[in-house]
Amino acid sequence: MKQRFINRREAIKAAAALGTGLAMGGLDLLSQSMAALSVYKPLDPVRIGLVGTGSRGTYLLRILTNLKHNLVKAVCDIVPERAANAQKIVEEAGGPKPAAYTKGDLDFQRLCETEDLDLVIAATPVDWHVPVCVSAMKNGKHAATEVHAAYKLEECWQLVETAEQTGLQCAMLENYCYGYDVLMILKMVRSGLLGELIHAESGYQHDVRNVRFGQDGSLLWRAQDMLTHNGNLYPTHALGPVAQWMNINRGDRFDYLVSMCSKSRGMNVFAEERFGKDHPSAKQVYMQGDVSTTLLRTVNGLTVTLYYDAQLPRPFDMMYRAQGTKGIILGTSDRIYIEGRSRWEEWETTAQYRKDFGHPLWDTLGRVAGQYGHGGADYIMMYRLIEAFRTGQPFEVDVYDAAVWSAVSPLSEVSVAQKSKAVDIPDFTRGKWKTNRPVEIFEA
Ligand SMILES: NC(=O)c1ccc[n+]([C@@H]2O[C@H](COP(=O)([O-])OP(=O)(O)OC[C@H]3O[C@@H](n4cnc5c(N)ncnc54)[C@H](O)[C@@H]3O)[C@@H](O)[C@H]2O)c1
Repeated sequence: MKQRFINRREAIKAAAALGTGLAMGGLDLLSQSMAALSVYKPLDPVRIGLVGTGSRGTYLLRILTNLKHNLVKAVCDIVPERAANAQKIVEEAGGPKPAAYTKGDLDFQRLCETEDLDLVIAATPVDWHVPVCVSAMKNGKHAATEVHAAYKLEECWQLVETAEQTGLQCAMLENYCYGYDVLMILKMVRSGLLGELIHAESGYQHDVRNVRFGQDGSLLWRAQDMLTHNGNLYPTHALGPVAQWMNINRGDRFDYLVSMCSKSRGMNVFAEERFGKDHPSAKQVYMQGDVSTTLLRTVNGLTVTLYYDAQLPRPFDMMYRAQGTKGIILGTSDRIYIEGRSRWEEWETTAQYRKDFGHPLWDTLGRVAGQYGHGGADYIMMYRLIEAFRTGQPFEVDVYDAAVWSAVSPLSEVSVAQKSKAVDIPDFTRGKWKTNRPVEIFEA
């Protein structure tokens, strides 16, 4: 079944049939969403194919098996043992054994062609995200991809065009959009606490060198990129939440960026210390600079400072600064200053603000979510994903978000390579950003 759009009257009927279980508080809100966004056929259970059953895929699978309204019917990996492990996870959770596709790099195509599924999730290395999602959509299945969706600008367009041509969703699983702090900031921004939003600062600042090298010092797939790229290679964790605060693609859009990278030392120093100074990985030339800084400006005049800092020793910190005409919050250092409410020139902690600005999804799901990764954000994201498909709503991180958040990676490289020249950011929505409605404040 290729065409999954349904008309407004059918959608309301379908939603009514779902009774009180609708997220966001029922038909009024669904109806509001429908005014601005397409509505899809509700699916229950959501039948899923999972491509890539390594560490992230297995993790997502464990969450899925703990959520209702979905059924993982097929799994795929180039390593048969990993697919078998995924089958076992589903069976141990009481589900029927999913079919396994393990015949090489392109076997996901057979999965997409032959299985009766609603949604295919790509949890492979990044190079395979677009081929998997495109194959899914061309075979009449919705797609969802791990982050980031693509490395190349052409691939970002390919995702958008395939989603538009097929009328299917291509969601991006940006779990950092569901953290407690970022959703609290979203609510603060929407309520006007910070005044008019002017600037944000955020960064993927995480020493991940330990997952770039094998035990023998060989370069794993994540490290291969460091050889030939120099820019922000992992933009979406930091940019996704900011883009939602700023209503990017929904009232505003990113206009242009400039980017700069420091020299590269961290990978060599790490390899020297772990594997010896004569190890090939210690002597390797890495193109990727240690600290990448990108500045973005929106059409409405907002600015963002974005860091990618993943190969020097440091504690993890996403930063999450949001600043407006009435105040500023530094999310991860738990500092806030609101003019007229905070004492002059003094930071407060957010403790007094959490009651009023805690997000409803966290109020309802926080306790169970907290048992899962990324501080619970992973669970809340997967809950929202299944709810979106179950109720026939567009998932809030859509193909246009996937495209523009991911495109920062190749565009930052273009800027870095040309002495930080300003680079235009394409409008993947082709003008729809002017009328699209902001992401809703969802309830569970
Ligand atoms: N959102 C997050 O917080 C988060 C965290 C970790 C990883 N990730 C993302 O998840 C994805 C997977 O990362 P990972 O850590 O699980 O890596 P991984 O190497 O542990 O797993 C990737 C799996 O994909 C399989 N694979 C490779 N090519 C394939 C193909 N053509 N068809 C089917 N399977 C294939 C591999 O055999 C492996 O089992 C990446 O895109 C990564 O950026 C996201």
